[in-house]
Amino acid sequence: MPRIAYVNGRYVGHADAAVHIEDRGYQFADGVYEVCEVARGYIVDMTRHLDRLARSLSELKIDWPMARKPMELVLREVVRRNRVFNGLVYMQVTRGVASRDFVFPDDVASSLVITAKKVDPSFMEKRAEKGISVITVPENRWDRVDIKSVGLLPNVLAKQKAKEEGAQEAWFVDDNGNVKEGGSSNAWIVTKDGVLVTRPAEHGILRGITRTTLFDVAKKLGLKIEERPFSLDEAKAAREAFISSATTIAMPVVTIDGTSVANGHPGSLTLTLRQAFFEIAEKTQS
Ligand code: PDD
Repeated sequence: MPRIAYVNGRYVGHADAAVHIEDRGYQFADGVYEVCEVARGYIVDMTRHLDRLARSLSELKIDWPMARKPMELVLREVVRRNRVFNGLVYMQVTRGVASRDFVFPDDVASSLVITAKKVDPSFMEKRAEKGISVITVPENRWDRVDIKSVGLLPNVLAKQKAKEEGAQEAWFVDDNGNVKEGGSSNAWIVTKDGVLVTRPAEHGILRGITRTTLFDVAKKLGLKIEERPFSLDEAKAAREAFISSATTIAMPVVTIDGTSVANGHPGSLTLTLRQAFFEIAEKTQS
């Protein structure tokens, strides 16, 4: 079955889908995006993802490409047309097409692309059973990483370095030796006392939707959360460590820069959070 993409008002074959060569996303990374997990036929946490899209657009003064309600319908339709039962839906909004000039163009409509992709859920499940390795890299991104911009070159390079070193994620570490977040995920630890620790979202990280929903999950399970910076040394000595994102949910981290976290096996609290996530997360039928 051929894949279908939505591009600026039209459903087109994925292989033929294209944007203009002077799209500002292409020339300046002048655009934002969201990735929602699709699990068992439902789009997960769509409301929160669209709320964050609204914030990213507003911070960059990019117009909505269409009203939010019809966009929700298009998201569901792209998932449906691609028969995605498990996988993800990706949406990208750029400032639009204009002759190359740094300043914002006048009267140009923003561009919207939506794609959906099947992902075999057993891949991530197997990964969660084993746990992942992370490496660390110095923070070298701009200070507005709270905006989900398509300008991701430092993240690309960090994750490529992780891959070359046999790891699955790279954590950005700030000048004080504190862990910020991963190339495409938030970073967490569990202390010896069983407290969940993750960096406050005001300080140079993306406010992950999975992170927010995991707060709800933790509350429901009666777990204690501390939003505070944690150092790389604290992470290496922690009882558990994990990452969170729409595509990984809560994913155990078993080594950091080659040092085993605890006994080098996935932490039980992480796996409990992972298990409970879908009971709490918002599910929108596609
Ligand atoms: N990445 N931090 C960064 C830098 C991210 O790119 C992401 C998500 C997250 C986690 O956010 P959320 O829980 O809302 O997915 C944190 C997505 C999955 C991506 O770029 O593919």
